[in-house]
Amino acid sequence: MTTHHDRAANPLREGLSNRPMPQPCTVVIFGASGDLTYRKLIPALYNIASDGDLPAALSVVGFARREKTDDSFRNELEEATRKFSRQGINEELWGSFRERIFYHKSEFGDLEGYERLAQRLNALDSARNTRGNRLFYLSVAPSEFGGILEKLAAVGLNNPAEGSWTRVIVEKPFGTDLPSAQTLNSVVNHVFREEDTYRIDHYLGKETAQNIMVLRFANAIFEPLWNHRYIDHVQITAAEPLGVEARGPYYESSGALRDMVQNHLLQLLCLVAMEPPTDLTADSVRDEKVKVVRALRPMKPEDVAHNVVRGQYTNGAVNGREVTSYRAEDRVSPESMTETYVALRLHVDNWRWADVPFYVRVGKRLPKGGTEIAIHFKAAPGVLFNRDSAVGPNVLVIRIQPDEGISLRIQAKRPGASVKIEPVKMDFHYGTSFGKASPEAYERLLLDAMSGDATLFARSDEVECAWRFIDLIEQAWHAHPSPPPLCQYPAGSWGPAEADALLERDGRAWRRM
Ligand code: BG6
Repeated sequence: MTTHHDRAANPLREGLSNRPMPQPCTVVIFGASGDLTYRKLIPALYNIASDGDLPAALSVVGFARREKTDDSFRNELEEATRKFSRQGINEELWGSFRERIFYHKSEFGDLEGYERLAQRLNALDSARNTRGNRLFYLSVAPSEFGGILEKLAAVGLNNPAEGSWTRVIVEKPFGTDLPSAQTLNSVVNHVFREEDTYRIDHYLGKETAQNIMVLRFANAIFEPLWNHRYIDHVQITAAEPLGVEARGPYYESSGALRDMVQNHLLQLLCLVAMEPPTDLTADSVRDEKVKVVRALRPMKPEDVAHNVVRGQYTNGAVNGREVTSYRAEDRVSPESMTETYVALRLHVDNWRWADVPFYVRVGKRLPKGGTEIAIHFKAAPGVLFNRDSAVGPNVLVIRIQPDEGISLRIQAKRPGASVKIEPVKMDFHYGTSFGKASPEAYERLLLDAMSGDATLFARSDEVECAWRFIDLIEQAWHAHPSPPPLCQYPAGSWGPAEADALLERDGRAWRRM
């Protein structure tokens, strides 16, 4: 039998950041009747339990406005977990897991509700041996953050008892621009210390995103080539066949740039472009990432027109199904100028990446879903095999999802008497190599927060630097007297033709996914 002690001693289990085992605690979810709790958070906690990694003493308290009892909340969560758990549900395990879940009905603005919460948490600590450790999860609109934090502080719930800890997890969007992000940071840091603040970017919890650092720094063969001398360019793509679903109002005020690029895609870019950290502590890793964001070449309005393409989907068909245009989506303005697609040409202005373009694209209603990073190496010298006809370059593809893995395109001689060269793939698939499905991003992130490891969470300076860069583009789109066009693309296509032209101009093309 594996004990907690065995696991902690086994370096293979320590992961990217030498994470200690999670500690007993109570997770309090604000906004517990929202989608995230049902689809992600509870299934994630259940799967952690199913893997045997959940601390024996752990309680979950859902805090929300709607009328529910512990029992009705548990029943709803059971139904959701059956649907969304990656490992299905085991009746016996669920039977004991559900007993850890409680519901606390209160308005977010009602101080008395927080006083009752404090009493309830104390009672749960005694009954369930959770040792006064608390993890507050803010799964609410950013406009609610301030009020909730203020009330938590008013009843002293931000202050841990001697020998205990309190931490806060904050869901995105973390601001809508630099000033709002700064305000949010100061609101949160007024109540919780920065080291106790965990800003979720769920892309960092994805297995292959974590593997980027391992690929780069645990293998000797890649790092010597990982720079402007050998890399021609990098492409990062996040494609989704989905539209905006029921999130019209949020998406209208956000758009693809703020929704995905400011956070998820820039985080991936940082992992690809960062220097090796001196160690794997949260701050060493984040120190290196923030240097990348700081090195992003800022765009003037005229650069935006040249380097950024924004698009919006029109009617079309995705996977053979007719779908409406973005402007016809539920609660979206018929004249909306919100982008559902964006393609950017970026530069990281430092020694390693001098003159290497990073092409980043993200879009909704594309033909298929998938997130990948493709490192395109420079071609071999054209003196032997590729003298007459061009032999393609090597491309290292990191597939974040689906079918997580890494492949390397190399050139090989086709069997036969003549020398005919064709590209072939060396391919690593997580599923086949390790024989089990990767955990969901939220599983890893919740475990890390319970263990006090913030490596895979965004620090305030990273978030603010990313906004500083993104704001310049937003300003060029919205404030400039002659803003660049919003290009249209039919749903089910790979985005506007202008995005292809962005690369063609440089003699390059987007990778076909
Ligand atoms: C969210 C965005 O952060 O990420 C959504 O708000 C997007 O618009 C989602 O669909 C994509 O996440 P994933 O894990 O499905 O790639």
